[in-house]
Order: sequence, then C-alpha cells, then structure tokens
Amino acid sequence: MKIVLFGATGMIGQRVLTEALNRGHAVTVVARDPSKVTAQAPNLSVVRGDLSDPARVQSLVTGAEVVVSAFAPPQGHEGQVADVARTLVRAVGAAEPPPRLVVVGGAGGLEVGPGVRVIDTPTFPAFLKPIAQAHIDAYEVYRTANVDWTFFAPAALIQPGQRTGRYRTGRDQLVVDDAGNSSISAEDYAAALLDEIEKPQFRRSRMTAAN
Ligand SMILES: NC(=O)c1ccc[n+]([C@@H]2O[C@H](COP(=O)([O-])OP(=O)(O)OC[C@H]3O[C@@H](n4cnc5c(N)ncnc54)[C@H](OP(=O)(O)O)[C@@H]3O)[C@@H](O)[C@H]2O)c1
Repeated sequence: MKIVLFGATGMIGQRVLTEALNRGHAVTVVARDPSKVTAQAPNLSVVRGDLSDPARVQSLVTGAEVVVSAFAPPQGHEGQVADVARTLVRAVGAAEPPPRLVVVGGAGGLEVGPGVRVIDTPTFPAFLKPIAQAHIDAYEVYRTANVDWTFFAPAALIQPGQRTGRYRTGRDQLVVDDAGNSSISAEDYAAALLDEIEKPQFRRSRMTAAN
C-alpha cells in the first residue's frame, strides 16, 4: 500500500517504518530534517515536511492510501497533539480519494474499569498528565471527524524490545496481563499497527494492544 508516515525518526515511528518496509509497502516518510532518516530501501522515499504547516501536509497526504502519524510534541507544548489531529483530519478529509488515517495515540484515555480512565488512577504519574490529557483531547478530534480514522493507543508501557508478533488487542479498555501489567514492545506495537493497516478491524475506532 502507499503509506505516508509522519514521525519516522521517533522511538515508535522508526519501528513502524521498519515494519512497513519489511512488508513491502511503498512508504513516503515526511521528516522535518530528512537527513535524520537513516533507513534506506527501494520502497522508501523521504521528503521534507512539518506537521505545523497545514498546506504542506495537505499536499503530502494527497495520493496516499494510508496516512500514519507517530508524532510527539516537545515537552511543554502538548497542545500541539490536538492541533496536529485537526491538521491531519482536515488534510485527509480534503484529499481525493481520502486516505485512511492511523495515529499513534496515548493510553491515558483508556478505561481500567467502567468510567475509570488510566489518567484518573491514583498511581498515574503527575508528569505524564499533560501528554495524556493532550491525547484525550486529540481523540475527541478524531472521534468526531468524518474521516476513516483509527486511534491506536499503546499499552501503558511501550519501549524498545523484541518483535514477537504476538499481542492482544482491545478497543477502549487497557489490555493487561495476569499480573495487571500493561506493556508492549515498540516492535510488536509496529507489527500490530501494520496488521491493522493490512486487515482493518478498528476503523473509526480507538484500539490498543499489549503483549
Ligand atoms: N503509553 C502511552 O500512551 C505512550 C507511550 C509512549 C509514547 N506515546 C505516544 O506515542 C507517540 C510517539 O511517541 P515517541 O516516543 O515515538 O516520540 P518521539 O521519539 O519523541 O518522536 C516524535 C516524532 O515526532 C516528530 N515530530 C515532532 N514535531 C514534529 C512536527 N512539527 N512535524 C513533523 N514531525 C514532528 C519527531 O521528528 P523530529 O525528528 O523532526 O523531531 C519524531 O519523529 C507520541 O504521541 C507519544 O505521546 C504514548
């Protein structure tokens, strides 16, 4: 598929890029600094672009089948997450034909029990509240948008690790193991994201995955 990927220099985005290239998709990476993209492959193109430039984003997503964002804001500028959501929604909504939009979200808005979100739990770290709230605000942008979106919230913990290809998915509830822990390797998250692109199960929906 023709995939346009934002955030490919990031912790999660790098792994999404590797997974997409290994599966033979035609990937166009959009980077603020293309020299930071070290991957090389015949099915990879790298172009310059910035998510704070709506007109540029509009032109870049046109012609894509799927647009993926693994964007993260700088600390202290978490409001950019919802701004980027509005930019992406407008861009894919105006493109003809409209691509599917798959975004890396946050786990803070997932539920741990009826009406109880991860961000509301007493042990949720205070320093993560701004980014968690930013993803909750962005989720509202996607949820109410008339585009083909998927908001893929990682497990509570996501970090570089092994690619096992084994994971469990959920929709609005945090996925935990028998000990109550919620974690996923970034490699398995990337595998789950590409699986969702190839065999959609969560269109116009939130989803999550954990090992
Ligand atoms: N458990 C959880 O819920 C959880 C855990 C971890 C992460 N996350 C979320 O997952 C997402 C990705 O996290 P990460 O750790 O992979 O992030 P990261 O390593 O900080 O990477 C962020 C990416 O965003 C790009 N970016 C920043 N500003 C941009 C702009 N204006 N235009 C285009 N690209 C821009 C960066 O590009 P440059 O190279 O140009 O800076 C980089 O590729 C974030 O939204 C984060 O909040 C959620």
